[in-house]
Amino acid sequence: MSARIDGRSVEVHAGESILAAARRAGSQIPTLCWSAGLAPEGGCRICLVEEDGRLLGACHTRIEDGMQIVTASPRLHALRRGLLELQLAQRPAGAFRADPAGSEFERLLHAHGLAPGPATAPLPPPDASHPFLRFDRSRCIVCRRCLHACDEIQGQFVYGVEGRGGDARLVFGASERFSESGCVACGACVDRCPTGALADVDRAAIDTQERRIRSTCGYCGVGCQVEIRVDGERVLAIDGAQDASVNHGHLCLKGRYAHGWRGSPDRLTRPLLRTGDRFEAVSWQEAVGFAAGRLRELRERHGPQALGLLTSSRSTNEAAYLLQKLFRAVLGSNNVDCCARVCHSSTADALRLATGAGAASACYDDIEAAQRIVVAGANPTEAHPVVGTRLKQAALRGAALLVIDPRRIELADFATLHLAPRPGTNVPLFQAIARRLRDTGRLDRGYLSARCEDPEAYLRSLDAVSIESAALATGVPRAQIERAADLLAEGPALFVSGLGLSELTQGVASVLGLVNLALLTGSIGRRGAGMLPLRGQNNVQGNADMGAMPDFATGYQPLGDPGLRARLLREWGSAPPATPGLTLPEMLAAARAGRLRGLWIQGEDVAQSDPHQIAVLEALDRLELLIVQEIFPTETTRRAHLVLPSAGWLEQEGTFTNAERRIQRVRAATRPPGEARPDQEAALDVAAALGAAWGRPTPAQVMDEIARVAPRLFGGVSHARLQQNGLQWPCPSADHPGTPVLHAESFMRGKARL
Ligand code: FES
Repeated sequence: MSARIDGRSVEVHAGESILAAARRAGSQIPTLCWSAGLAPEGGCRICLVEEDGRLLGACHTRIEDGMQIVTASPRLHALRRGLLELQLAQRPAGAFRADPAGSEFERLLHAHGLAPGPATAPLPPPDASHPFLRFDRSRCIVCRRCLHACDEIQGQFVYGVEGRGGDARLVFGASERFSESGCVACGACVDRCPTGALADVDRAAIDTQERRIRSTCGYCGVGCQVEIRVDGERVLAIDGAQDASVNHGHLCLKGRYAHGWRGSPDRLTRPLLRTGDRFEAVSWQEAVGFAAGRLRELRERHGPQALGLLTSSRSTNEAAYLLQKLFRAVLGSNNVDCCARVCHSSTADALRLATGAGAASACYDDIEAAQRIVVAGANPTEAHPVVGTRLKQAALRGAALLVIDPRRIELADFATLHLAPRPGTNVPLFQAIARRLRDTGRLDRGYLSARCEDPEAYLRSLDAVSIESAALATGVPRAQIERAADLLAEGPALFVSGLGLSELTQGVASVLGLVNLALLTGSIGRRGAGMLPLRGQNNVQGNADMGAMPDFATGYQPLGDPGLRARLLREWGSAPPATPGLTLPEMLAAARAGRLRGLWIQGEDVAQSDPHQIAVLEALDRLELLIVQEIFPTETTRRAHLVLPSAGWLEQEGTFTNAERRIQRVRAATRPPGEARPDQEAALDVAAALGAAWGRPTPAQVMDEIARVAPRLFGGVSHARLQQNGLQWPCPSADHPGTPVLHAESFMRGKARL
C-alpha cells in the first residue's frame, strides 16, 4: 500500500497520520495545536493539506492507500495565513512579533509574511503567582497543548478551557490564580507551549553562547536524563532529554528547577580544620596531610578495625569505588557502609535471598507493559515524580493498580483497589494474600515448579496463616484481602515498593512477603512484571554496587571469594581482610564504645538522618577523627575534625546507577565553587599521601578498573559505551547490550526461594 505526498511515493503504515507520513517523506507541514507524543487536538487547522481538492487536517487524518497529498500550494499558504491572522486578531496588539528566532507561533507568523503591529495599550501583566511558572494570557492562543501535556504526561489535569470560539480561555480548574491550581511544577506544559504564554520564571535568556551538557539528574533514584543549558559558569535552564529511556523528556520540579544551590553563598568552598571549637580554612595540601597522618596514626595505634567509612549515595560510582578501595586496600578495613543500611538494605537482602540479586528485576519500561501493578509502601508521585506519572498514566490506560499503603496517597485515587494496613503489618497482609492465592488454586503452577525451589514447602507453611487473623492484625477487611489476591491471580504483576516496606524492623520479611507474591504469580523475569523497588537517592544503587558494604566487595562479591581475591591482588596489589566489617549502626555503636576511632563520611548527614539521634551524636562526638566531605555545612560537618568541600552533581564527572540498574553518565556542566573538588580527588590524594601508587586515574579509567574487578556485573561497562541511555547491569562483556530484565532465563541463584 502506498500514497503520494508532494509527488513522492510513500509506503502507507497502518494507523499513521498524514503528518507522520509526510515527515517520513521529507515534507514539512506546519503545526500549531499538535505536539509529538500527545493526542492530536485537531483544532487549529494550520496543518491543512490538499487531497484531490479536499482539505484535510494532516495531524489527525490517517493516510490511506492511493491518497495524493499536496502539502504546500498558494491556496494552502493563503489559508494558513488567514488562520494565523485570525489568531492574531483575537489577541491584544503587541502580544507577538513575527520573529524567525522567536516562539513556534512567532516563527510561523514570520514564515507566512505576517507582521503584527505594536501594542496600542499596555498589555495586561502575566499571572506571576506561581513560584516556578508564569502565565501570560495575552500570548495564549488556547491551542490546548498544555492541557494535553498536563493530562497525558503528568496526569495532573490542571488545565481546562472555558468558552467557545474567540471567547475561549485557558483556566486552571476552579481557581483564577495559577498558584492555587493543582500544578506540581513539572514544566511539561512549558515545554509544549508554542507561544511562550507558559514559561519558566527562572529561565535565563538563552543566548548564542550556551552549551548543552547531557547528564543525569542528581535528586532521586529515577535517574532522569537532563540537558543542562549553560553559559560560562551560569546554569540557564535544565531540560529533560527527549530521547531518554527513563524520562522521555519529562522532568519533575526538582530536576527542572532546583539548581539554585549551585551558587548558594552557603556552599563549602575551602577545606576546614578544627582547632578547638573553631574551624580554620586550610589548603588542600594541609587537609590531605592531616587526613592521611591521622588515619595512619589511628591504624597504627588501634588497628585497621578502628577506622570506618560511609560513602555517599549522592556522589558518583567512581568516587565511592575509590574510597572503599582506600579503606580496604590501603588501610585494611572492611568497615565500609552507606545510607542504604538504614533504608533499602532490607530490600536488597530480601531480593538477594530469594533471587540471588539484591536489585530490581524489572525496569521502568515495564510500567507501560504491565497489566497489573502493585505499589506497596511507596509514594512515587511525591518521592519519584517521573515514575509516579508513568504509573498514573498506566492506570489511566487501564492497568489494574493495587495500592498498599496506610495513607491515602495520590495513586490511591487511580487505583483499582487501595489496601490501608496498619503501619508495620505488611507481613501478615502479604501472607494472607498468599494464602488466598493458594486456597483458590490460582497460582502459576508451571512457573513455581520450573523456577522455584521446593514451592510445596512454602505452600504448606501457609496452613499456619489465617486470613481472618490477618484482617484483625492489619485492619484490612477480609473481603479486601481476598479481592487483592483475586486481582493478582489474573496473571503476572509489576511490584513497585519503597521504604514503607523496607524501613522497618521487619523490613526483610516485608519484602520477602512481596517477593513471595511475585513468585506465586510467576512475575519475576517477565516483561511488564517483576520487582521494582524505588531507590531514594540518586546513586544509592550504585553506591552499594561499588562495594559500600561491609560484607561484599564491588559487584556484590563475597570478600572470601578466591576469584575476587586474585583479581584484587592483581588490581590493587593487596586484598582486604576476608572477614566482613561493621555496618553503619555497628560502626556508630563501636564509636560510642571507643572501639571505632576514625570515621570518614562522604556526603551523608548522619547526625540528622539516622535513627536514634542522641546515640548518633554521642558516637560522632567520641570519635578522635571525623572527616566529612560535603557541599554545605550540616549537623555532621559541625562535629567534624576536617571538612572537605565537594563538587555537586552539576560539577563533576562520573556515573550514577538508578533503581533499574542503569549506569548513566554524569558530566560536569560548571566548575565547583572556590576550592571545592570532585569527590574522587580527595580519595586519590589521601591514598597517595599514604603511599599508594594509584596515579591520577580519570573517572573513565576508574570505571575500567571497576569492570576488571567485577566482570560478572560490569565487565562490559565503560564510559565510552555509556552514551545516551547508559547500560543496565549485568553487562559482562564489551558486546553485551545490558540487561533490562533480570532472571529472564534462570534466577541468579539458580532457582528462586520462597
Ligand atoms: Fe493539526 Fe492543529 S496542528 S489541527
